Amino acid sequence: MNQDEMKRAAAEAAIAHIPEDCIVGVGTGSTANYFIDALAKIKGRIVGAVSSSEASVARLKGHGIAVFDLNGIDALPVYVDGADEINHQLQMIKGGGAALTREKIVAAVAERFVCIADESKYVSVLGQFPLPVEVIPMARSYVARELVKLGGHPAYREGVVTDNGNVILDVHGLSITEATKLETEINQIVGVVTNGIFARRRADVLLLGTRDGVKTYS
Ligand code: 5RP
Repeated sequence: MNQDEMKRAAAEAAIAHIPEDCIVGVGTGSTANYFIDALAKIKGRIVGAVSSSEASVARLKGHGIAVFDLNGIDALPVYVDGADEINHQLQMIKGGGAALTREKIVAAVAERFVCIADESKYVSVLGQFPLPVEVIPMARSYVARELVKLGGHPAYREGVVTDNGNVILDVHGLSITEATKLETEINQIVGVVTNGIFARRRADVLLLGTRDGVKTYS
């Protein structure tokens, strides 16, 4: 199996975690796209979806899946999304697709977070993948200086504007051993909208696509 096949296998395995007649939280990225395609095949069994990005909204609607506004939803049984890295405690780095803030919001509402990923994403220590931080545009340089004080090397992701109209700094050189602490610290910097550490709200289940099939961790 190549990487795409492992992503697809993990995404298809997530269908077993979707309750009947519910609204499903849907993430963003290539693995989430495989999940949306799999969801389309059972769309008669669900009410619809809440999405974490405009890109996923377009793909869901393209499949004829109803997309709801999160503000109109009281409860969300499950959120399914990929990750850029996930450790053995099921803490993640997300935001490679610049959708981290909406992903974190939908994940916060969801009762269960099912992470779908290929085996390359499973790591002992987070931080090899540069940590995305969504920033209000006028605060970009200030936030970058503050991130340097925390030991990181921020790089401006040029040409990218998030669905919320903000910019992304990718922070290189972090070895994230205290994920919850660093998540909180970075979010305290004025001008940061959110950062891509998902530790305060980690995944409940990981479906990992591997050469030996899909492995489940919880
Ligand atoms: C988007 C994300 C994605 O989940 C993450 O980048 C993984 O993407 P892919 O499934 O394409 O490897 O956080 O903001």
